[in-house]
Amino acid sequence: MTANELRRKYIDFFVNRGHTEISGKSLIPENDPTVLFTTAGMHPLVPYLLGQDHPAGTRLTNAQKCIRTGDIESVGDTSHLTFFEMLGNWSLRDYFKKEALAWSFEFLTSDEYLGLDVNRIYVTVFEGDNDAPFDQESFDTWVSLGIPEDRIFRLPKQDNWWGPAGQTGPCGPDSEMFYDTGIEACGVNCRPGCSCGKYFEIWNDVFMQYDKQSDGSFEPLPKPCVDTGMGVERTITMLQGKNNVYETELFSGIIAAIEDVSGRQYEENDETIQSFRVISDHVKTATMILGDETGVKPSNLGQGYILRRLIRRAVRHGLKLGIDKDFLGTIADSVISLYRGVYDELKDRRDVIISELALEEAQFRKTLEHGHKEFDKLLPNLQRNPKKIIPGRVAFRLYDTYGFPVELTEELAEENGMSVDREGFDEAFKKHQEASKKGADKTFKGGLADDSVMSTRYHTATHLLHEALRQVLGDHVAQKGSNITAERLRFDFVHPQPMSAEEKAEVEAIVNQKISENLPVSMKQMTLQEARNLNARALFEGKYDEQVKVYEIGNFSREVCGGPHVESIGELGRFKIQKEQSSSRGVRRIRAVLT
Ligand code: SER
Repeated sequence: MTANELRRKYIDFFVNRGHTEISGKSLIPENDPTVLFTTAGMHPLVPYLLGQDHPAGTRLTNAQKCIRTGDIESVGDTSHLTFFEMLGNWSLRDYFKKEALAWSFEFLTSDEYLGLDVNRIYVTVFEGDNDAPFDQESFDTWVSLGIPEDRIFRLPKQDNWWGPAGQTGPCGPDSEMFYDTGIEACGVNCRPGCSCGKYFEIWNDVFMQYDKQSDGSFEPLPKPCVDTGMGVERTITMLQGKNNVYETELFSGIIAAIEDVSGRQYEENDETIQSFRVISDHVKTATMILGDETGVKPSNLGQGYILRRLIRRAVRHGLKLGIDKDFLGTIADSVISLYRGVYDELKDRRDVIISELALEEAQFRKTLEHGHKEFDKLLPNLQRNPKKIIPGRVAFRLYDTYGFPVELTEELAEENGMSVDREGFDEAFKKHQEASKKGADKTFKGGLADDSVMSTRYHTATHLLHEALRQVLGDHVAQKGSNITAERLRFDFVHPQPMSAEEKAEVEAIVNQKISENLPVSMKQMTLQEARNLNARALFEGKYDEQVKVYEIGNFSREVCGGPHVESIGELGRFKIQKEQSSSRGVRRIRAVLT
């Protein structure tokens, strides 16, 4: 089933059940300062979910363009996308759980629609907490539809609750539907919601029963609503039996266009795969933003800044593939033709899209060129250094004056048989930041390290590493093991493939950035359940009412752990990954040191 067929079938199904098809809205939310982009199908409907009447009635359905940019750096793996489409059906104070779940079930399993094997469908429901009770009605409905109780999982807020797009607004328990892909479970705790790939999330039915207030309390809505969301890209990947979304028609044409322009093959090696994915995702999203009627342009602020980052990152990955001429317009054309008949605003705004991409691309290339020239000028002098190391302050000047990314300085250095003193660069960067940050805490602890001090530092560094890995690689990263000596840390975690050099560098940069911010470490005692409600990282083992310690590092990391930990992380020094290798199937092992 193609994406076009899926959209049509979905909308027809709900139109046949009394829903009105409404058009998707702009990617830039109207009157909502809490988010930069439309992040879900329900987003433009928030005022109606909160009580206003919708002119099209009480049952609505559509496809909505969405952008989520929290994970830009993770794009390049098999699952993260910045642009996606969401299919949805809504009840505005009309039907509720029974009808919504029954229709979801029918659409998934009926041969006329998706025809999925009912024996491979798993569902989850909200288990209940202090804010809201166990979702008995959803549970009973699934049972009545024929899902055996052992395939209905009760999960906490972190899995089965849909919060408002911003800080306040409509929210409530949800029930998610998963399809068992048939691959082996990753362990005894593998269940729907686990990110190993066994259970594929297809659909989310949200029951909006509350309006979250700015003081954090939950006001019941007088008449509840239903909001459901099915991701187009994910669903067709699963229906087509593909390994990842880049193998579907929503990307294959874009990838072919990049192959044409670059003369390279997508599957040449891990690095080409990553660069092709980054370029195709980023150019698609940039095209969608520029194609939006609101007329966002690249800038240093808000949506414009995200657009600029996407474009520049695509150009950089183009350079990695050896593309040294302007090419984004050609790739954008493949995006425009892919969505012909679906998002025709792209075709109508083609001139703007192409010219803005060309402008930003040319400007960025000029920035890079200036930096490059300056580097060439400095080179003879730099090469006199017998250690062949480029001082950090030089790399920083290239960055500060010419906007030349340090990663590029490193690449040029390597081409010339040299390396960059990254520590020195970070130091200069940090000084610069500190100078512009009033009242920054510059106290660092001194003293000679003994064994126990070092082990303690490694414990804390492990938490930083864990969080940084999740930011760079995605939420599927879960701790599988940890081993600490006074010399190094070792950390095992779930991740399907080797990390690229770029990913390792990003993880190091995040950890070192946090260390340079000298964040404080604090500890609180609570039950495991309370820790989970706070979204603390925790292993699955343990009883809900067990007392645990939760360590927080600034706002960056929150993890259940026995300790010990340092009091503030400035004393950790410099974090460096020495090795990243396979530990067992689907598990990677990192060895890292503090220097
Ligand atoms: N708002 C929910 C989601 O984005 C359902 O549409 O998953």
